[in-house]
Amino acid sequence: MLKSAVFASILRLAMLKDAGQREQMHENSSPSYGSFPLSKRTNTIPNSIISARSFSVLIHTKRPTMGDSHPSTEIFNQKGLEYEEAFGHDAGLQKNVQNFLELLPANARVLDCGCGTGKPVSHSIAASGRRVHGIDLSPTMVDLSRKQVPHGTFEKVNMLSYAPSDKFDGVVASLSLFELTREELTTMAHKWFQWLRPNGLLLILVIGADDVKTSPEMWDSDGQCVQRIGWTFMSRTVYITLFTKAGWNSLLEGAGFSIVHTETDTFVPAAEGCDVEPHYFVIARKPSST
Ligand SMILES: C[S@@+](CC[C@H](N)C(=O)[O-])C[C@H]1O[C@@H](n2cnc3c(N)ncnc32)[C@H](O)[C@@H]1O
Repeated sequence: MLKSAVFASILRLAMLKDAGQREQMHENSSPSYGSFPLSKRTNTIPNSIISARSFSVLIHTKRPTMGDSHPSTEIFNQKGLEYEEAFGHDAGLQKNVQNFLELLPANARVLDCGCGTGKPVSHSIAASGRRVHGIDLSPTMVDLSRKQVPHGTFEKVNMLSYAPSDKFDGVVASLSLFELTREELTTMAHKWFQWLRPNGLLLILVIGADDVKTSPEMWDSDGQCVQRIGWTFMSRTVYITLFTKAGWNSLLEGAGFSIVHTETDTFVPAAEGCDVEPHYFVIARKPSST
């Protein structure tokens, strides 16, 4: 995978050099575009850059199966609090977590699925007086969560193999689903449903495939999902899976949830080397009668 990623990067740089547009690409991934709607920002990307990017995505057709050697684990182990400095100021996330918490009982037990450093999500849950349990694949992130949220409990486990001994009133998965495949995301939707008590609530923070630049050949045939999108994150390229906004809704409804609330928001990370993120929030409820 590393070899093909390096090859793809070299090829991409060579193509950009030929087009004399390396500077412009840097600008397009810069946080300084944050004051424009994303559609306007992406529309400014020259076509040659779009095709160079799609090419790098197309030749990068292999990904490791999800496990403890998942590529992002290395990034999160390395970056630790640097990640929080770049992403921890997300006002849209904080507002949606507060709205979600208000819909839960005061003594609710909430799972933070891919908890990262523990801030802001686990920390907000604990600060509200509710009980929080966080899981994460990265041992560095689990250590940071334990330090930063002393009232929570945390464990290092892959969400795909997690088997809770008790049910939750709420589950949050914030920005932690990007590197799962379509099949794994579908599995997770059913697992969250199983892990919740009747009337339990789910909050996910994801990105809609319809809100990012793609090319037609990248799409699954049903038009609901794009896999292996090259995404710039903490100065690296990671390959991510995105459903469309409607696709996320139907994935959750297919697992048995009813959609309670959806919202979009553009988030600008506070670091160089990160793509601007068009966030999509969904709050969904497990019916009381199951
Ligand atoms: C982008 S960070 C988001 C952290 C936090 N949820 C937030 O909103 O700030 C993604 C986190 O999800 C974790 N993660 C990714 N895939 C995972 C998996 N399959 N199981 C558990 N954690 C995972 C990563 O290790 C990382 O800490």
